[in-house]
Amino acid sequence: MKLPKHVTICEVGTRDGFQIEPEFIPTELKIEVVDRLSATGMPRIEVTSFVSPKVVPMLRDAEAVMAGIKRRPGTRYSALVPNDKGAARAVDAGVDDIHTVVSASESHNIANVNMTIAESLAKLEATAQVAHRAGKPLYAGISCSFGCPFEGEVPLAQLETVVGRLVALGGRGIGLADTTGLANPAQVGRVLEHLMARFPGVEWTLHTHDTRAMAIPNILAAMQMGVVHFDASIGGLGGCPFAPGASGNVCTEDLVHCLGAMGVETGIDLDALIETSRRVEEIVGRVLPGQVVKAGKWTRRYPLPDGVRERIPARS
Ligand code: COA
Ligand code: ZN
Repeated sequence: MKLPKHVTICEVGTRDGFQIEPEFIPTELKIEVVDRLSATGMPRIEVTSFVSPKVVPMLRDAEAVMAGIKRRPGTRYSALVPNDKGAARAVDAGVDDIHTVVSASESHNIANVNMTIAESLAKLEATAQVAHRAGKPLYAGISCSFGCPFEGEVPLAQLETVVGRLVALGGRGIGLADTTGLANPAQVGRVLEHLMARFPGVEWTLHTHDTRAMAIPNILAAMQMGVVHFDASIGGLGGCPFAPGASGNVCTEDLVHCLGAMGVETGIDLDALIETSRRVEEIVGRVLPGQVVKAGKWTRRYPLPDGVRERIPARS
């Protein structure tokens, strides 16, 4: 396998995850989770979103969360914004990076942000201006890049048009999001091969959801294509409130564990991450999809059953 030496993970659990929790997570607990995540060495955290509090009430405390976190040098803190109003709020709240979003599918974009793709792209010009004026790098994510829960297949030409418009906005990176876990590894390889040739020099991120257990295979396929930036959620939290059937992102500790087992560095302390995941389970009050928390790391060993050791033939 062609493996990079190092990949960069952006933790999105406190945004993609907490936005869809049935109960409002108290502000001080959101802050605690962000601080625990940064203490693991997490290089990037998408802390929250600056969206309409009527539409996403679970993240209505975005300013207070940003104001309450400890800023660890070495972690970049970002927030998701759908428009210039959100970007201005995010700048005032002191984010390092601005993440914005548009869908490759008209139906999902209207359901998610109440705009057609063209309206969103026009709004994103104002969003980009706010970011540029404030000197904040802009990263643009594209929901439903690999398929839509309403429309099914999203034609590659349509995705390519949206990517082209976002590249023209002068953002630092483009994220391809598989919002409801429809992508498969062969498709991820095909789409990336096409877009990477068409838009050289773009920093690509893959944002996966594990809805159909294809998230890590898709990440491996993207790594084969040279992608080294991935979003992930602690415990496997996550899901879009405006995409039916959406479920959690790829689980951060499972991904860091898989990469570590293969010798790919992330700079993240896996044990601290597993502890954080346990704490998040306590906070949300249920068992999360992450597997390594349950199974232990691949280095885990069990005591031998009685009578086995004596019967193991001596190695010559
Ligand atoms: N932050 C806070 N308030 C905002 C806002 C933002 N970023 N953008 C708009 N608003 C407010 C407006 O000021 C206005 O307030 P008012 O009613 O008090 O005057 C109200 O929301 C309506 O504004 P409008 O521009 O007409 O927005 P809308 O109702 O068409 O909603 C979005 C559009 C984009 C703001 C909304 O759909 C949204 O926040 N979507 C986010 C969805 C999301 O987070 N999805 C999951 C992540 S992909
Ligand atoms: Zn997502």
